Amino acid sequence: MQPAVEFRSISKAFGAVQANADVSFSIAKGSIHGVIGENGAGKSTLMSILYGYYQADSGQILLDGQARSIPNSHAAIGLGIGMVHQHFMLVDNFTVLDNVMLGAEGGIQLASQRAAVEARLREICATYQLELDPLAKIEDLSVGAQQRVEILKQIYRSANILILDEPTAVLTAQETASLFQILRLFKEQGKTIILITHKLQEIMDITDEVTVMRAGRVAGAVRTAETSKEALANLMVGRPIQNELPRAPYKPGASVLEVSGLQLRDAHGVQLLRDINFSIRAGEIVAIAGVSGNGQSELMAILAGMRLPSAGQVRFLGQALPYAGRKDADGLPKTFRDLGIGHVPEDRLRDGVIKDFSVMQNTVFGYQDRVTKAGGLFDFKAIAARCAGLLKAFDVRPNNPDLRIGLLSGGNQQKVVIAREVLAQPKLLLVGQPTRGVDIGTIEAIHTELLRLRDAGVAILLVSVELEEVRALADRIIVMSGGAITGELAIDEFDTTRIGLLMGGMHKS
Ligand SMILES: Nc1ncnc2c1ncn2[C@@H]1O[C@H](COP(=O)(O)OP(=O)(O)OP(=O)(O)O)[C@@H](O)[C@H]1O
Ligand SMILES: [Mg+2]
Repeated sequence: MQPAVEFRSISKAFGAVQANADVSFSIAKGSIHGVIGENGAGKSTLMSILYGYYQADSGQILLDGQARSIPNSHAAIGLGIGMVHQHFMLVDNFTVLDNVMLGAEGGIQLASQRAAVEARLREICATYQLELDPLAKIEDLSVGAQQRVEILKQIYRSANILILDEPTAVLTAQETASLFQILRLFKEQGKTIILITHKLQEIMDITDEVTVMRAGRVAGAVRTAETSKEALANLMVGRPIQNELPRAPYKPGASVLEVSGLQLRDAHGVQLLRDINFSIRAGEIVAIAGVSGNGQSELMAILAGMRLPSAGQVRFLGQALPYAGRKDADGLPKTFRDLGIGHVPEDRLRDGVIKDFSVMQNTVFGYQDRVTKAGGLFDFKAIAARCAGLLKAFDVRPNNPDLRIGLLSGGNQQKVVIAREVLAQPKLLLVGQPTRGVDIGTIEAIHTELLRLRDAGVAILLVSVELEEVRALADRIIVMSGGAITGELAIDEFDTTRIGLLMGGMHKS
């Protein structure tokens, strides 16, 4: 049988960066094929070429044994190729049905056709166990459900080849399991799936074959049944990865943060945070575990000065943080930074970087004062030196301070944000989902850095949906559910089942 897709010597450069170099491999029809590699290895670029979004500089793509030109995404869709991007492309205040019809041939159609499309969507949902109501609004759906809408859209457009670029980065464990169930059904129908992920366990769980990319090239191709996570990690990074990082004994110092009676109501009076009480001492990492959407983001936003609480108090190094008597949070994030509160926002693209600005400019955002000379002028020499040091220390690739940061791969953007906050020498560091979309080598580097800060006496509040990450870093674990704290454990009481129960927890309302 001809492979569904064959890449033959694909090369693609962006300026001086060779994103793909002589890439050749095949993807068997009816298989689930994993593509892995470090941040910036060229995975998304290759898939964007297959999806007609970029044109290769040289090389060929064969579909079912036939060389094809794929000049744009429209052509790709016509050839039965579908792609689910990491950032969904859905219109929030439209229904599932409208979103599917929007993208389809002919755009928005007549009412009579709507009924037919709706019926077809219900059929697809039943076949693939998508558990979606075609008439639900996107904004009312969880992230996992929104992703199922993207998949529904592709199936409706009769995609035979489905590309998923890091689909599980924002999913909970249950959502991932249900996505994989859908992918297995898809495969049973003889369709082909290409899965990009940084999570090697997922590769082991669901793929048939894996291609490993490194610095734009194919570094290896293996059958999943004949490899292991360790072997894959080695192929990806070129060295073994340490799973258990060493950490100094737990010796917390003075109290740094004390949160008491914190409440948050939204404009409609809905309670987003209910009576939150906890504290963090110097030299400890407190992790908040929980399914996202249970108040963790709001809590982080308040502590970073991006939102005002409705009630309650936060003391930082003994002083009450100045929320009281304010109409809005304008200027507060800067005030908090100046006090010594660093923040690695969980939504990197929205709050962490300014995409159209250079890497160098992004390394000073929020900390402009510290690189300003007497008289108010920027000290460009200092900025450049600072940036060069940071790119080197955190191994940001490519090492180019003038590149627009939006052109760096996701993991490399994350390194810049973390480096910027670490460099500011905070006393309290708020870290949201620090390793989302980050490769395993970089996860190791980021974790090492956070543990180093902890051992140097920084208080760290970590919000993470990855329990493995919580286990690797935390001294204490707080679990949140429904805007309330449902439990607290010390790290030596770590127990996935108990945490799972607390995450789905009953709480007093
Ligand atoms: N439009 C672009 N302009 C300039 N450089 C780009 C562009 N798109 C990608 N690159 C560069 O090409 C290289 C490959 O990027 P790509 O996004 O394919 O990596 P990736 O393997 O998907 O990484 P990640 O795991 O972080 O998503 C990176 O060095 C990236 O900075
Ligand atoms: Mg990518």
